[in-house]
Amino acid sequence: MRNQICIIGGGPSGLLLCLLLRRAGLDAIVLEQRSRDYVLARIRAGVLEQGLVDILRAAGVGKRLEAEGFTHDGTLIVAHGQRVHIDFKALTGKSVTIYGQTEVTRDLYDELDRIGAPVLHGAEGVTIHGAATDAPHVTFRHDGQDRRIDCDYVAGCDGFHGPSRRTIPEKLRRQFEHVYPFGWLGILSETPPLQHELVYAGHDRGFALCSMRNAGLSRHYLQVPLTDEVGDWSDAAFWAELRRRLPADLADQLVTGPSIEKSIAPLRSFISEPMRWGRLFLAGDAAHIVPPTGAKGLNLAASDVWYLSQALIARYAGDAEPLEAYSARALSRVWKASRFSWSMTRMLHSFPAEGAFLARMQATEVEYLAGSQAAQTALAENYVGLPY
Ligand code: APR
Ligand code: PHB
Repeated sequence: MRNQICIIGGGPSGLLLCLLLRRAGLDAIVLEQRSRDYVLARIRAGVLEQGLVDILRAAGVGKRLEAEGFTHDGTLIVAHGQRVHIDFKALTGKSVTIYGQTEVTRDLYDELDRIGAPVLHGAEGVTIHGAATDAPHVTFRHDGQDRRIDCDYVAGCDGFHGPSRRTIPEKLRRQFEHVYPFGWLGILSETPPLQHELVYAGHDRGFALCSMRNAGLSRHYLQVPLTDEVGDWSDAAFWAELRRRLPADLADQLVTGPSIEKSIAPLRSFISEPMRWGRLFLAGDAAHIVPPTGAKGLNLAASDVWYLSQALIARYAGDAEPLEAYSARALSRVWKASRFSWSMTRMLHSFPAEGAFLARMQATEVEYLAGSQAAQTALAENYVGLPY
């Protein structure tokens, strides 16, 4: 079997890349290890930068997003006695769209099915061969048979735990990691959102976030110690702690209800350089992880995929330069988004082990933010998304 591009991973990165390449007439195939139901069962943030919304619209998968997505012109930060509304629209002229990552993934699957693009589920033991040669190939097992795909290029869109990044020889990789000393306990409840926009709360007891999926489905988070387990937290305990971390007027507005999903996720910042080895190119979580505070995970996957799709299209049109520049170009935006995600995490979470000086620096940063349009503009331009 031969394809021009073999894409490993059927998450947002792999699916969007496949769609953009096939829209340009290129022959791409997706190999996904899990079932479609498994992939679509993942609960993930859905704060879409304008850049991602534009790409999805241009790729012909923006219809449901436009009908069901929520436009947010700002967000509220309540921390250390301050209350700051960051007015994205007034400060940058841009907004963000709230639309679950699961829905983005579903829309991409549906469109790929409609155009007959090959997406193989249940691809086991995917292994990349000859990435540093002019004739790479990928082997895997599917439906009990050993399979091989010969291709021109391999796109590693297989997330943090996939094989692509590890295919690059360790001595050629530079990996940067910061693990945060806490996790996020998330709850999904069929209750109305606290506010029409997201509320980021910083408190001595810890960070909290009040988000949403739609007008009747809320997603809330609490910073918790890494030693906590989901079973330690009853719904009542979650709601009581969330109220403690909110200003009284907002706590009084909170509508509580039974959780329909509850989980704890660790936080890390991770970047692996380069995002390319020979004819293997990494995109999305395969190359980098950001703490969810800045809602950048999906949006960074989108800019990687945009750069890579345009570079591959250019390559087949005879221009090799964009593909040579891909890794450096993608990493420049990845590092900037990682900086923002790290800075939002540092500003709003409690770090008791780091003592009183950091706590005062955090409070001062929020006080400065509250009083400076320049600081609010800087936060806003990062939140809505830096230019591609
Ligand atoms: N073979 C085939 N597929 C694999 C393999 C493998 N060995 N290992 C992993 N995969 C698949 C996973 O099952 C998953 O569906 O690759 C896909 C990777 O998808 P994601 O982890 O969602 O990563 P990505 O597509 O880059 O999307 C990034 O997902 O994790 C969030 O916050 C992140 O929102 C961001 C988005
Ligand atoms: C979410 O809705 O899950 C969400 C929103 C914003 C974030 C993180 C998570 O910064």
